[in-house]
Amino acid sequence: MALYSEKVMDHFRNPRNVGVLEDANAVGEVGNAKCGDIMKMYLKIEDDVVQDVKFETFGCGSAIASSSMATELIKGKPLSEVSQLTNKAVTEALDGLPAHKLHCSVLAEEAIQAALQDYETRTGKHVQA
Ligand code: FES
Repeated sequence: MALYSEKVMDHFRNPRNVGVLEDANAVGEVGNAKCGDIMKMYLKIEDDVVQDVKFETFGCGSAIASSSMATELIKGKPLSEVSQLTNKAVTEALDGLPAHKLHCSVLAEEAIQAALQDYETRTGKHVQA
C-alpha cells in the first residue's frame, strides 16, 4: 500500500483555499515545536457561519493536505459544527495518514480552534466547544 492516500496527494499537490483572506475576522496561528511547522487559518464569519476560509501552511505535505481538507470541511458550515471539527475527521476525510504524520492533522484542528478563540476575543461571543 502506498504511504499516502490519493486524497492526501491530491490536496498536497492542489491545495484548496491557499492564501491570505484580507477581510478575515478570525485568525489562528499554531505551530509544532518538534517539527517547526506553522499553520495559519483565516476565517470570515458572518451570521455564525464560516462564509470563507483560507490558509497558509509552512510545513510538510501532510500538514498542507490536512489544512486544505480542513478548509473544505468548514467552509459554509455553522460555527456549532466547525467548533467540533477534530483531527480525526480531517484524517478520515483524507482516507488516513501514516501514524507518524497524525500530528500534522492535529495542527489543522488547533489552527481552527485558535481562529475561533480569536473570534471570541474580538466579538465577546462564545463559540468554542
Ligand atoms: Fe510537522 Fe507534518 S511534520 S506538521
